[in-house]
Amino acid sequence: MTASIIDGKAFAASVRDDVAARVGQLKKSTGITPGLAVVLVGEDPASQVYVRSKGKQTVEVGMNSYEHKLGADISEADLLALIESLNDDPAVHGILVQLPLPKHLNEDLVINAINPAKDVDGFHLSNVGLLGTGQDSMVPCTPLGCLMMLREHHGSLSGLEAVVVGRSNIVGKPMAQLLLGDSCTVTIAHSRTKNLADVVRRADIVVAAVGRPEMIKGDWIKPGATVIDVGINRVAAPEKGEGKTRLVGDVDFASAAKVAGAITPVPGGVGPMTIACLLSNTLTACCRANPETSAA
Ligand code: GUN
Repeated sequence: MTASIIDGKAFAASVRDDVAARVGQLKKSTGITPGLAVVLVGEDPASQVYVRSKGKQTVEVGMNSYEHKLGADISEADLLALIESLNDDPAVHGILVQLPLPKHLNEDLVINAINPAKDVDGFHLSNVGLLGTGQDSMVPCTPLGCLMMLREHHGSLSGLEAVVVGRSNIVGKPMAQLLLGDSCTVTIAHSRTKNLADVVRRADIVVAAVGRPEMIKGDWIKPGATVIDVGINRVAAPEKGEGKTRLVGDVDFASAAKVAGAITPVPGGVGPMTIACLLSNTLTACCRANPETSAA
């Protein structure tokens, strides 16, 4: 069997087109332009790339982008003061603080200072609690993108066996909640799980978010299963020349694609969906903040 490829790049483009059309309607009918503020602390190169990409795509769908780039040595009090001012700014409907933060800043404190209604990452305790109890919340972007691809591929997920490999607050835990919400039987496994290969082999749906390059091999995959690879790992690629690198996922794509029914590639799978869902969450936050609008 050769897996069909789930094209996250094309799917993300269609989500962005839909957001752009709804933003256009909103502006025309109400004069309101959704605004997303992104806060970057320090100069982590990967974070800089993500933040640039988020800003560019925000503008492309017709929304306002507010970028706040702060020195790595900013004090917690100054960062909290910026968040407070963004909370109070009616032109800002979504706030995202790019993670990880430098060690001297308390991530939990910073995230929970964001107004939950503007928490487009869905990381605030209040949104985590709402998601966990099946209530309307802001849903973290990466798991939401994964869920959208799974629904698109399968239709109903009801009764399917899902194994999430990875237990992070950003991906693993919210992913498990979303799959449970769609009536999957969910296991959260991780790097310390005993007999991990056997656990993964039970799954109709595998979501790999463990952060270890090409850890999940083809012979761990049940024939015909759907594999969603959240990993983005840069590894050496001596075959491309000295000092060259390439991106790989948490799944060994070559072997898994021979067994799976469907699989997301890296790059071009989950990655583009994350930003598309961020734009969608920002529009949702804007519409909820302006209940007289009907575009939510
Ligand atoms: N760093 C890696 N992924 C994310 C994300 O989804 N949101 C934020 N804020 N930071 C991240």
